[in-house]
Amino acid sequence: MAKLKIYTFPDIVLAKKALPMARVEKSTFKLADDMLETMYDAPGIGLAANQVGILERILVIDTDYETEDSEDGSGEMITHKNSRILINPEIIYREGAQIFEEGCLSVPEYTADVKRFDKIKVKYQTIDGVSRELSAEGLLAVAVQHEMDHLDGKLFIDRLSAIKKELVKKKLRAERREREAALAAGDLSVLRKKRKKKEI
Ligand code: NI
Repeated sequence: MAKLKIYTFPDIVLAKKALPMARVEKSTFKLADDMLETMYDAPGIGLAANQVGILERILVIDTDYETEDSEDGSGEMITHKNSRILINPEIIYREGAQIFEEGCLSVPEYTADVKRFDKIKVKYQTIDGVSRELSAEGLLAVAVQHEMDHLDGKLFIDRLSAIKKELVKKKLRAERREREAALAAGDLSVLRKKRKKKEI
């Protein structure tokens, strides 16, 4: 397994639509493994292929795991894993509404309330090519909808009002330029510290 680079706004791959996966290849298993490792390390509760620079309709999700410091102090341990891999996901049922304060591994240090469906049913293929359905509500429903947006080239900030969206994008672009200029000048203090909170 390998940790992959997570692309961040305004990297163009995040604004592109991922293409349906015609079949699961050997490389798909590796991609899914690598995406899960990258998600757990970030830490995140979901990751879509666009975020690691791949335009295929595959996403990984785990809203259940816990991170604990290992007893010998050697680092962190992840327990209660419940990883899901969804290929070519499609929402086939939607109900109600919920508002959740979303963040995103691809949108550094910004969160905003986003309105999503409260309950959904998703049709998808497993990594073994089997057709399945997943019923989700609450946080899992938020995460699935957020990751599916990624596959369509959409970020949660694209769901804000037009005025707010432009302001936020301008601010994020400026912050990124500042970070890159500082790095180029050898100032490593701007490198992001490991997140504490799990992002979507
Ligand atoms: Ni995200």
